[in-house]
Amino acid sequence: MNLNILLLGSGGREHALAWKIAQSPQTAKLYIAPGNAGTSDLGENIPVKADDFQSIRDIVLDKKIDMVVVGPEDPLVKGIYDFFKSDPLTAGIPVIGPSKAAAQMEGSKDFAKRFMQRHGIPTAAYRTFTGETLEEGLRFLETLKAPYVLKADGLCAGKGVLILPTLDEARKELREMLGGMFGSASSRVVIEEFMSGIECSVFVLTDGKHYKILPEAKDYKRVGEHDTGLNTGGMGSVSPVPFATEEWMKKVEDRIIRPTVEGLAAEGLDYKGFIFFGLINVDGDPKVIEYNVRMGDPETETVMLRLKADIVELFKGVAEGNLDTKVLEKDERSAVCVMLVSGGYPQHYDKGYVITGIDQVRDSIVFHAGTAFDSNGNVVTAGGRVLAVSSYGKDKDEALALSFKGARTIEFSKKHFRSDIGQDL
Ligand code: AMP
Ligand code: GLY
Repeated sequence: MNLNILLLGSGGREHALAWKIAQSPQTAKLYIAPGNAGTSDLGENIPVKADDFQSIRDIVLDKKIDMVVVGPEDPLVKGIYDFFKSDPLTAGIPVIGPSKAAAQMEGSKDFAKRFMQRHGIPTAAYRTFTGETLEEGLRFLETLKAPYVLKADGLCAGKGVLILPTLDEARKELREMLGGMFGSASSRVVIEEFMSGIECSVFVLTDGKHYKILPEAKDYKRVGEHDTGLNTGGMGSVSPVPFATEEWMKKVEDRIIRPTVEGLAAEGLDYKGFIFFGLINVDGDPKVIEYNVRMGDPETETVMLRLKADIVELFKGVAEGNLDTKVLEKDERSAVCVMLVSGGYPQHYDKGYVITGIDQVRDSIVFHAGTAFDSNGNVVTAGGRVLAVSSYGKDKDEALALSFKGARTIEFSKKHFRSDIGQDL
């Protein structure tokens, strides 16, 4: 049976997911809520926010949706999976994403750390503090070596992690975080050991019992060349990652992936969706920096290129609990993505600049992240991260040459991109 699919979200990740879902012969009709200027080429955008559950429910019933795929973490942490399960009219419609309880793997750093501790999953040593235990937290900092890693417990749109070079700064920031710097998200703060190494994003799709490992990717978080400047949502990505050898990935699977999926099942945490393992390679051993309960952005803009399998077939396996019977084939080519961002991002930037040249890019796939249509029907900038220029190549350098060519072909006022993506590998 072909499916009507509703995809929630509006970024580059969602455009890449939409691109892959639209290629499936099993997709009858694709809707994206709210989507962006790019997703409108692949399906029908519906102007409803991804966390407006009542309106999403109405769309699902009205459009006879057979499957809901959740892109961002916010609706998952707010419990969209449970919302659908608890209503008899929608209970039979699969939601690809974890339950609210399981989404705490991303929604609470303290929850994730305790989970890893219970299941012996390698991660940085840590302790959690609240306003009441501030003095203890200050003393704990004195027992650690610089740099100091402070994490707000709750969701902070990627801004809740501080890495501080001196004890004085760490003490000051701990006071401020527990004093309400990130509102209730930082009413609890995780202080953890600093780990030194190269990072790698590993993704699995799970039906709660079985899992399939997707192609891994490396993401470039800092805004400036050679990893300088402020942290962003991600300035580019590369897949495969050279240090993620078969041997290293076996360690990841044995020490991290399998214990995580089995741990979720053993604790009765209902999880049918993507798990994103933010890993760091410490002297050859993988350790978990964080869990996310969704795909990465901009990793999805390369991972989807390297996924040969029919993604809807995999989603059916997730929904039906027989993911073990599906085959996940990978494309052997390299894939890379270079993000075009608004000048000023991740701080203040202006929106509404007309974008030209997208249709002249022939050798790359251009995913929209922050774009919209203006009243004249022009595609304009509408966010910090604007477009992801993704390319295939026989190796990363060939793919990068194409993405940089595309990045130069597209124009908008104050365009910025990093021209050193992939150069450190
Ligand atoms: P997170 O939001 O947990 O991914 O943290 C944001 C970034 O901070 C990560 O991608 C790492 O670059 C860095 N980071 C987080 N925790 C640690 C740690 N314990 N040691 C070193 N770097 C870290
Ligand atoms: N690229 C990192 C993230 O999606 O959180």
